[in-house]
Amino acid sequence: MTVLCHIGDIPESGSKGFEIEGRALFAVHHQGQFFVYENRCPHRGVQLEWLPDQFLDYERNFIQCATHGALFKIDDGQCIAGPCNGKHLAAVPFQRVGDELVLSA
Ligand code: FES
Repeated sequence: MTVLCHIGDIPESGSKGFEIEGRALFAVHHQGQFFVYENRCPHRGVQLEWLPDQFLDYERNFIQCATHGALFKIDDGQCIAGPCNGKHLAAVPFQRVGDELVLSA
């Protein structure tokens, strides 16, 4: 069981990046829910953030890739604008256990 973080580590409308067991991941806290994805843009395979822990667009409605500006829906990772339109971020299975986010095996 791998603990990703405590839910208090990510404020509402916030995001946070992780390096865990050689994997680059990030989590988003949006409208009371948490979402976890691989930190890899489906366009070029690069990491998404423009600054540490900054994965969202200015209005915090979408995940944004810093390289070419692709926008992804927070709830399912689908790209809705940009060069990888229609592709998806890779969702990472996890569970909320108490006040922690735990990666599923
Ligand atoms: S690398 Fe992400 S949009 Fe091009």
